[in-house]
Amino acid sequence: MGAPWSSGVRRRPDGEVEVAGVPVSALAAEHGTPAYVLDEADFRARARAYRTAFEAAFDQVGAGVDVYYAGKALLTVAVARWATQEGLRVDTASGGELATALRAGVPGTAIGLHGNNKSDAEILAALDAGVGRLIVDSLVEIDRVADLAASRGVVAPVMVRVTTGVHAGGHEYISTAHEDQKFGLSVSAGPDGGTSPALAALVAVVARPELELLGIHSHIGSQILDPSGFEAAARVVLQLRADLAQRTGVLVDEVDLGGGYGIAYLPADEALEPGPVARDVAEAVAAVAGELGTPLPRFSIEPGRAVVGPAGLTLYTVGTVKPVTVSASVDGGATAGTFTRLYVSVDGGMSDNIRPALYGAHYHAEVVGRLSDAAPVLARVVGKHCESGDIVVHEVMLPGDVRAGDLLAVAATGAYGRSMASNYNALTRPPVVAVADGASRVLVRRETVEDLLALDQG
Ligand code: LLP
Repeated sequence: MGAPWSSGVRRRPDGEVEVAGVPVSALAAEHGTPAYVLDEADFRARARAYRTAFEAAFDQVGAGVDVYYAGKALLTVAVARWATQEGLRVDTASGGELATALRAGVPGTAIGLHGNNKSDAEILAALDAGVGRLIVDSLVEIDRVADLAASRGVVAPVMVRVTTGVHAGGHEYISTAHEDQKFGLSVSAGPDGGTSPALAALVAVVARPELELLGIHSHIGSQILDPSGFEAAARVVLQLRADLAQRTGVLVDEVDLGGGYGIAYLPADEALEPGPVARDVAEAVAAVAGELGTPLPRFSIEPGRAVVGPAGLTLYTVGTVKPVTVSASVDGGATAGTFTRLYVSVDGGMSDNIRPALYGAHYHAEVVGRLSDAAPVLARVVGKHCESGDIVVHEVMLPGDVRAGDLLAVAATGAYGRSMASNYNALTRPPVVAVADGASRVLVRRETVEDLLALDQG
């Protein structure tokens, strides 16, 4: 059906939609609803597309590049394996994500660990697994990692996360390179105009023999649709790298430009395409390195959403359908009449997708179990939680005869749906079901009320 659906989503002549050859009615019958459905071939193709586009573009300018799949978007054992099989490494943001990647058999050397407040246990787990990189986020953490590495008798490979002052992305809480936020160390000098926290941190790492300084890390935000932010951030990071070399004689080998590549959520959205972004960024870094007179480092990027977001959809069953008369207001607030919005309730909601409530994110939905020739009406898809902000899709045209029992799918929910899911109202989290070549399999089973009660010690 085209974007924002995954490439394996098709509407058959009888009107039912199938994913990678499996009809949605069969998915619902076998796995129940709501369910997260992942199109494995689509995930793999996007992972490959990012890797090959960046490899080709950076090769053109004589630089190497590694692509890390950002597991925070969605990490299961199978997903980590798919990423690895497609030649990606895995970026983790907690001990839990690290454990998942290790359970999948991802070699420690192909894993990175992030976090602005890692626990000692997380740092030790990373050191024991021999992770390829620990991304340190503060001056105090530099000493903690060095001390823990010393206690294990190892040298910790670290990158320093810096904030470049480049702002990009869809929503304030999704943008992570503002200065006034918790991540990283600023490249700007403090009020006294002295050494920037970023440079001070890099110098501090160089001074500790228990640490190996791999390079500099920057992540500027998420759901970015204008690639110029990546180029601006790369310029700042390469300048910092040159400053460090001037100060200490150490020219670091690696620069990570983070993730954030935006995707299509609605049919009219234009996603960022890996080929053109890779070329723009590669050309920009080559030009900057030329100006600075420094050889190019090895680069890495960390896409999460762009790999898994479009590969996923959420399958729901429609329950209560209710027309609601709404007052329409014109500029200035005067009421200019009324219109009807059809409230279509589904069997999940903000517990399986918090993004509309948290970020005002917009999604696309369709009735997928049948074809309807009823005229489309303005609808709002809502969940079953005790909260009026429990909105799944703010605004979408659905067939006027949408009714209880219909299967409804929401597109592009693969990223930050399951990974941010909750048990609000003691709802159980849906399964993650992979579909490939006409067959489905459960990657993560549906939670049960017994699972929830098992945690409750009475
Ligand atoms: N690398 C780092 C260091 C990050 O902090 C992030 C995302 C990524 C990579 C992956 O970014 P992506 O390519 O997926 O945009 N929960 C929010 C997104 C938060 C992103 C946080 N960091 C959402 O649902 O939109």
